[in-house]
Amino acid sequence: MANAVNTIGVLTSGGDAPGMNAAIRGVVRTALSLGMKVKGIQKGYHGLLNEEIIDMDAHSVSNTIDRGGTILYTARCMRFYDEEGQKQGAEICKKHGIEGLVVIGGDGSFQGAQKLAGLGINTIALPGTIDLDIACTDYTIGFDTAVNTAMQAIDKIRDTSTSHERCSIIEVMGRNAGHIALWCGIANGAEDILIPSKYDHDEERIIQEIIANKKRGKKHHIIVNAEGVGHSTEMAQRLEKATGVETRATILGHMQRGGSPTCKDRVYASVMGAMAAELLAAGKSNRVIAQRGGEFVDLDINEALAMSKDVDEYMYKVSGLLCR
Ligand code: ADP
Ligand code: F6P
Repeated sequence: MANAVNTIGVLTSGGDAPGMNAAIRGVVRTALSLGMKVKGIQKGYHGLLNEEIIDMDAHSVSNTIDRGGTILYTARCMRFYDEEGQKQGAEICKKHGIEGLVVIGGDGSFQGAQKLAGLGINTIALPGTIDLDIACTDYTIGFDTAVNTAMQAIDKIRDTSTSHERCSIIEVMGRNAGHIALWCGIANGAEDILIPSKYDHDEERIIQEIIANKKRGKKHHIIVNAEGVGHSTEMAQRLEKATGVETRATILGHMQRGGSPTCKDRVYASVMGAMAAELLAAGKSNRVIAQRGGEFVDLDINEALAMSKDVDEYMYKVSGLLCR
């Protein structure tokens, strides 16, 4: 059966995430195997508006599955928030023969894809963000690598924290979400996990806990603080003053976004990329690929964007029981 579209484009948008290259590779190689042509749009919607568009063949994605970052580069683009920019983007797609587009990014990028779908470009979105903050899916490309990178960094901080009998506050990324903080908090055996949607800002409780733990002979006190709570350096100064326990803050920052993707990120991103190409070949549009209940599924982007989620309640409860 003939494909519904002959030429597709692929772009990465918003913050990069490890595994994006595996997703691009999945899109490109699957589309080629189905007989479609593939164009890579560099630097997200910004590059689309600047017509930074390249032809891609099977070789374009060779030696990329193990690479962090995105070979197509990424950007944030203010012009794309406006109808004018979106219309121009759709026109540029048409000019280059791009009938279908795979957008790999977070829910901001999904909204751009939704707008292009409304303007006649078939779009499929893939969840690419280290933050895991896309409501429709249990998995986002890059989270597994990021959380492992952060976990390993916190293990190292814990070593020196124990040697010096210090308190350490480690700030992890996640924008307004607390998934990275919760996972690291559990994985690193943190004494406190501060998450935007849960933290009550009761610093006195933390102070009393640090003092009590010190009395019990604990050699360190690890606080994993989410970016959305922030202010780690100031918090460290306040805690040290109130407890008398030396306290240091470390902001892990962008190191969490880099590095070679884990096996899970490579495999899941590859599968999602392949599914995106197949959906475009079948004439689907305005869909997002998600993982729900262990299965890969596609959902309407409008429905996906209307969903909301917080950190897993049971995991959060368990984290509180284990922080002793
Ligand atoms: P993420 O995709 O990781 O959530 P952003 O929210 O920064 O990251 O969005 C990435 C880009 O997607 C933005 O710079 C903009 O170009 C585009 N975008 C975001 N929101 C919209 C929107 N409401 N309409 C159209 N484009 C959008
Ligand atoms: O969305 C990914 C993310 O790394 C967030 O965790 C963080 O808040 C943001 O991007 C940082 O963005 P920038 O790269 O613009 O500093």
